[in-house]
Amino acid sequence: MCEAVGARESLSCQAASGVLEPCEVLDIGSCDKNGGIRRLVLRAPHAAIHALPGQFVHLRIPHFDDHLLRRPFGLYRCNSAAGTIELVYQVLGAGTQQMTSLKVGQKLDIIGPVGRGWSCAPEAKNVLLIAGGMGAVPLYPLAEQLKAQGKQVQVVLGAQNADLLVFQKDFETLLGAENIPICTDDGSAGFHGFTTERAAELLKKSSFDAIATCGPHLMQRGVALLARKAGIPCEVSLEERMACGIGACLSCVVETTAGKKRACVDGPVFKADEVIWND
Ligand SMILES: Cc1cc2nc3c(=O)[nH]c(=O)nc-3n(C[C@H](O)[C@H](O)[C@H](O)COP(=O)(O)OP(=O)(O)OC[C@H]3O[C@@H](n4cnc5c(N)ncnc54)[C@H](O)[C@@H]3O)c2cc1C
Ligand code: FES
Repeated sequence: MCEAVGARESLSCQAASGVLEPCEVLDIGSCDKNGGIRRLVLRAPHAAIHALPGQFVHLRIPHFDDHLLRRPFGLYRCNSAAGTIELVYQVLGAGTQQMTSLKVGQKLDIIGPVGRGWSCAPEAKNVLLIAGGMGAVPLYPLAEQLKAQGKQVQVVLGAQNADLLVFQKDFETLLGAENIPICTDDGSAGFHGFTTERAAELLKKSSFDAIATCGPHLMQRGVALLARKAGIPCEVSLEERMACGIGACLSCVVETTAGKKRACVDGPVFKADEVIWND
């Protein structure tokens, strides 16, 4: 969890529009053997101190002037004492490709921390987290927080193949390998199949009283359905395409039972039952 969070447990849910913060690249690296998943450590004391699990930062990519829009990234780890934040990102398009040329010492800026994070299941004792691919990013600080609160936590950690299970070691160190059921789409590690199939098995065996998930949209929809069938409260973190990131442009609108909501400031975390899953 972001370290400052423990002292603010009463702030179980947070909506924030973030502040503009200049920051500096402190460390960079690859997480997988092909360099398609990268880590980026930034000196960003404001975000490091104020971030709550599930919030994100909106990053301006230097020398990327053709693309005026910032790019949103979840906060993987924060160190409030050192004033640092760690992002883990997958190289997908022009923006994330440009980020691979960032150098240690380079200056950039973020808006953050932004959004409404996890409720952190205040009443729950036994929590199931379900992470697909880069969806593990916002679930890691949640796992830290839940563990610090003395709760039982299991994390279904899924990826397309073994090489992309880049978060496995960190989660195992945090919670013990026995609490991290692994699955891969191609069967190259752990259970051969989707996170939803593995989660369905676990739900038959153990009694969980809260679920949180992040990953591909279809996976989150599947988890929402499983949770509804099992009668377990569930939160989802929706990674909609974003433009302004401050609630002004409506490009990230999500249909909910309470009408249209903006993923950037009303989310990215929503109650699963609140979301109208259209596709
Ligand atoms: C709240 C939030 C938190 C996020 N956290 C992370 C994170 O921790 N790590 C990480 O790797 N990514 C994260 N993302 C997704 C990340 O923002 C996008 O991958 C990135 O903006 C792509 O920028 P680009 O210029 O490289 O790609 P673009 O050229 O903009 O798009 C390239 C491809 O990526 C797809 N894409 C772009 N944005 C998204 C998105 N939001 N969701 C799914 N697909 C997308 C496009 O459909 C397209 O196929 C997050 C998104 C949101 C909204
Ligand atoms: S990105 Fe503009 S309102 Fe959410």
